[in-house]
Order: sequence, then structure tokens, then C-alpha cells
Amino acid sequence: MRSQDELKTLVAKAALQYVVPGELVGVGTGSTVNKFIEALASIGSRIQGAVASSEASSKLLRAYGIEVFDCNDVGQLPVYVDGADEIDARGYMVKGGGAALTREKIVAAQSDCFVCIADQSKLVATLGRFPLPVEVIPMASQRVARQFAALGGQARIRLDNNCPVKTDNGQYILDVTGLRITDPLSFESMVNQWPGVVTVGIFAHQKANVCLLGTSDGVKTVRYD
Ligand code: 5RP
Repeated sequence: MRSQDELKTLVAKAALQYVVPGELVGVGTGSTVNKFIEALASIGSRIQGAVASSEASSKLLRAYGIEVFDCNDVGQLPVYVDGADEIDARGYMVKGGGAALTREKIVAAQSDCFVCIADQSKLVATLGRFPLPVEVIPMASQRVARQFAALGGQARIRLDNNCPVKTDNGQYILDVTGLRITDPLSFESMVNQWPGVVTVGIFAHQKANVCLLGTSDGVKTVRYD
């Protein structure tokens, strides 16, 4: 039986086959992506560089000698590789456990193909088991929390050492429990329109094209389009 850590390494290495030589690669955030960055270092000279979805990933990429480009200085990327907190059978995901959801969605939107790398524990029938991360402007946090309460959700400001976590964009994260998201496309559109919401961590409009799922039998490749 492989450990969760081994499964993450397995899918991270498998994602290298989607990296296009001589091109840029979009790089997400999280513990699975950290393993992908490590794997990417082994082929570093064969890529032009990376566009990262967080300061943490940028720092790690640079530490491995991989050049990091700003989104505004590059065009469309062939591929974006990122993890997920939940993924369903249609490729819809919940993301933002690492508080990088807004930049993740931006880089994903700028990429032709979203390759999700995840271990099998992330697979769900219906999104909502993992507390839904929502990036909000601080002055709107309580109002947005009340809007979730009206839907049956309980929203809490994410804390670290009793202080609100600040994203790379200087905003807060609400983690919302008690939701069962059966129509991720509509739900994402609705929440994104609430005043003060920067991004909701539903990735339905920017869903995965492929998922490399780490299972006890090895890497399972699931395509969604
Ligand atoms: C960060 C994310 C991550 O992709 C998600 O939290 C999964 O992380 P990990 O690979 O550590 O399980 O959305 O904002």
C-alpha cells in the first residue's frame, strides 16, 4: 500500500509528460505541486520557464533555477499543472486549501489544458465535503458569511495564530462548511457576483481537462473533454 506522499510523487512525475519542451508551464500551489516542481527541476533546461500561482511556488521554482514569468508578460500557456482539494467525476474541483485560489484561476484561465494532479482521497461524488475556500475583501467578510448562512453554510475566516490569513493579494479567506454543491457551474457564477467576493474556490468554469489520479494500482488518467 503506497502512502499519500508516494501517490503525490507518482502523479507529480506523471505530469511531466504534459510539459511542452521549449515552452512555458503554468504551475499551481500546494504539497502535490511542490513535488511537481521538484520533478520539473530534472527537465528544467528543456523548458522556457514557468508562470506560478503563488509567491510560495515562485520561490520554490527559483530555488530550483527555473525562471518565473509574470502573467502579464506572456501569452496563452499550453498547460497548467495544479492540485485540488476535491474533484468530481466531471472534472469540477474545489481548490484554495493553500489560499492561492484567485491566482490559480487566473493562470488556469490563461492555459489551454488544466492537468490536475491528485491522490485518490480527493475524488468525491459531490463537491462540498472539503470546506469551500472563498477569497474576500476584508470589509465584506461578514456580509458574505451571512449570504452563505442563508444557503445553509457556515463561513469562518481562516486564521493563523489567531490572526486572519492574508492571501498573496492581501485579502481574507472564508472557509465554508455545510454545503452540498450539486450544480458547480451555477454556484460558481452566483457566488462570484456577490459584492466583496474576489474568487470562490469552485473551479467549474476552469475545470480540469485531465486528472492524473494516484491510486493503489498506480496513476489513473481521467479525461473530461
Ligand atoms: C492551493 C490549492 C491546492 O491545489 C490544494 O489545496 C491541494 O493541495 P495539496 O496538493 O497540498 O493537497 O488549491 O490553493
